[in-house]
This record gives sequence, structure tokens and C-alpha cells, in this order.
Amino acid sequence: MERKLKKIPKHFQEILKVASRIAARSGFKIYLVGGVVRDLILGKAIFDLDIVVEPDAIGFAQTLAQHFKTKFRRHHTFGTATVYFGKYKIDFATARKEHYPHWGALPKVSPVTLKEDLFRRDFTINAMALSLNKKDYGQIIDFYNGLTDLRKGLIRILHPDSFLEDPTRILRAIRFEQRFSFKIEKNTYNLMKEALKVGAIRFVHAHRLRDEIILILKEPQPYRYIKRLDKLTKLSFIDDRLRLNLATYQLLARVKKAITSYKKRFKKHRKLDEWLLYLAAVVINLGQERIVKFLQRFDLRKGEKIRILSIKENLKKVKRIGKKTTPYVVYQFLNPLSFEAIVFFYAYYNQKMIKKNIELFFDELAKVRLKTKGGDLSKLGIKPGTIYTRVFEKLLKAKLNKGLKTKQEELKEAAKIFQRATKKEPGL
Ligand code: CTP
Repeated sequence: MERKLKKIPKHFQEILKVASRIAARSGFKIYLVGGVVRDLILGKAIFDLDIVVEPDAIGFAQTLAQHFKTKFRRHHTFGTATVYFGKYKIDFATARKEHYPHWGALPKVSPVTLKEDLFRRDFTINAMALSLNKKDYGQIIDFYNGLTDLRKGLIRILHPDSFLEDPTRILRAIRFEQRFSFKIEKNTYNLMKEALKVGAIRFVHAHRLRDEIILILKEPQPYRYIKRLDKLTKLSFIDDRLRLNLATYQLLARVKKAITSYKKRFKKHRKLDEWLLYLAAVVINLGQERIVKFLQRFDLRKGEKIRILSIKENLKKVKRIGKKTTPYVVYQFLNPLSFEAIVFFYAYYNQKMIKKNIELFFDELAKVRLKTKGGDLSKLGIKPGTIYTRVFEKLLKAKLNKGLKTKQEELKEAAKIFQRATKKEPGL
């Protein structure tokens, strides 16, 4: 198994070897655990490392940080710590048992052995460990037959109350099932259905649900995940009235296509929060008030809420750019919107003119900036005041509609604009 560790990025391998020596010297036992072990066995790329420490992660992390003369942060409530190595970090957790005061609540923790720590985890495939200890470095530790389930492609919980204790696992089961094209094992499936029947998801703190949904929407093909999620949960935890239909799935497919072509064609533009577009596609048919309630309940960030709401609010208004119009009108409408909203509209509407105008915006209009500054207007003899805003606005309009390129052209136009304004309002 030691060769499995070779798949870990080089910068981490070195650290792990040193960590192993320090653990042996100072009486700690350390293990790689969870998703990283699963992904190593599956031969997937590794980005993050989770390490469980017996008996005390904070003590170990502190020793390690001192050795590397680097920063570390401790979280006493959960017995966890993070050590920072330049742009990388490793999370350490004390082997622990979790106790849920009530359904869906955040757990209270107490220290236990590795075996017990692994038992409280979600699925057998995520409950394996890899020893980082001197005597069996790289050895896989598999108390609960995770390896067999991984080979058979099965998602299996470790104890019957798993979904009730932590209903976000319902969403996680679907995520892993879809990501790896695995099957949810029969008994697990039945217990999941039972948990759904008693409304377990409703007891979860909304922000935990939000995090899980965002993870789902960040998967490469969220379309499939949403379909499965809808079939199993009816998505009533988002909103009771939510009904997905063929049109929703067609929209989701078009959103994916629009994101792909945005990324290919407009490489220099800002990166999109792609998950946000998929979420908008799911909730777009709900009334505005229901969307507001959902966004508040799920406690999305302010900027995220604003972007999703503006998609709903502007959905009909987009038709303004669905006919032949001037570049300035296109700019005026699209420029205040987020790029997520614009790409969403590109996907939502099949009208050629809307698509063409959006392409024009991304290709040319979005990067248009006036070369003329306040000082230039003053040199033209225009006295500073509110007139500047008007001149700049009209100048931008002229630049976009007439395609002015040079500063010279802009200044000439600015002078004309000012003359016209003074004719109307002498004394400006
Ligand atoms: N875990 C759990 N129950 C949860 C969440 C996490 O038991 N509700 C455990 C699992 O052992 C999981 C580990 O904590 O493997 C790490 O959680 P996380 O980073 O969320 O998941 P990964 O399995 O690493 O999945 P991903 O590849 O999506 O990061």
C-alpha cells in the first residue's frame, strides 16, 4: 500500500514522512482518513489531506508546526487544528466520537480510538484509514469492509441511525452515487427512504444543507445529480412548491452548454460561480417571494442572493435586447448585471438576437472604457460640475454606438456634446 502514498502530491509526501517521524518520537499515532484514502485507492487526484491523530490533534499539530516553523490554527471545540505550509495546508483532527444533541444539529465531540472514529463516519468507502506510523507506514486500515464496497461500487452506511443523526448524508449518498456511478446498497437505500419519510432533512440546519447543495452543484455534471435528488427527495427542502419538469432539465443542459462556450470564447473574462447558475435554473419558476424566502433560509452570501434575485427580476426585461437595437442599449442593460446573470439569460432564451447581443457585449462592449478623464474636459474649457456626468454618459453612448477608438476622436465628440448642451442651457 505504500505505493498508494506515491500518488499524493510530492510536497505533501515529504511533509508526511517528517510528520511520521515526529509522531513516533512524541507518542502520537497519525492516520490519513476519509475521502483521501478512498480517492487514493480509486486512483483519483488528491488535493486535500485529512489526518486523524490519537490521542490529541492540537498537541501534534503544534509540535509539527514548531518543527517546520510555520503557522497553525487550533479549534478547541472540535479538537481539530490546521497547519499551513506555504500555499498548502493539512487538517488534523483528534480521533473522536460525535454526539448529536438533536437531529441535524452540530455534533458535540469526545476523544476515542481510531476504530470508533471511523465508525461514526458516513459510508464504508469513507471510513478507511491509511497508517502514517513508522511500524506500518502506508498500510490500509479497513475495519468496516470499505475496500470491498469500493470494489463492488456500493454506498453503504455503517449503522442504522446514520441518516437520522446526520440527514445531510442523504445528499452525500446521492453525490457519491452519481460521482462514481455507484449504487446505494439496498438496506442503506431503505433507511434513507425512511429518513426521508419522517422528514429528517427538515431538521438539518439550513446552512449545512446549503453547503451540501453547493457541493452537488459544483460537480462536473450537476444535471444528473439534480434529477436523482428530485426523484428521491422532491426537493421539498428547497420549497414545497418546487416542481422540476422537462423544461427545467432542458434549461440545465443549456446552462451547461452556455458555461462551456463562455469559458472557451471569453477566456479573459471573470471566472463564473457556475453552481449559482444551476441553482438559479432550479428555482427560476418559483415566485419572487418564495425565492427570497429560500435564499434567506439557506443563508447564502449577500452577493450570491443578489445575483440569483437579479436573474429572476430581469428575466422578462431581457427581451429588450431581443430586437435590433444600438450597442449602447445592450450595454446599458447588461453592464449592471453579473456575468452569471448574463450567461444564464444566454442559456434561457433561444432567440438569436438575444444571443447575438450578449456575444457582442462579452466580445466588445464589456471592456469599453472612456480614455477621456475629468482633466481632459477641463482642458477643453468645460468647468467642473454636474455637467461632467452628463458629458461622460453621452460620450460613452457615442463611443459605443459610433465605435470611437482614439482619445482624439473622443475629445472631438466631447467638445460637440458640450456645445450642444450649452446651446440648450447657456451658462453651463
Ligand atoms: N464525513 C461524515 N459525515 C459527513 C461528512 C463527512 O462521516 N456528513 C466524513 C467522511 O469520512 C468523509 C470525511 O468526513 O470522507 C471528510 O468529509 P468531506 O471532506 O466532506 O468529504 P470527502 O469524503 O473528502 O468528499 P469530497 O471528495 O467531496 O471532498
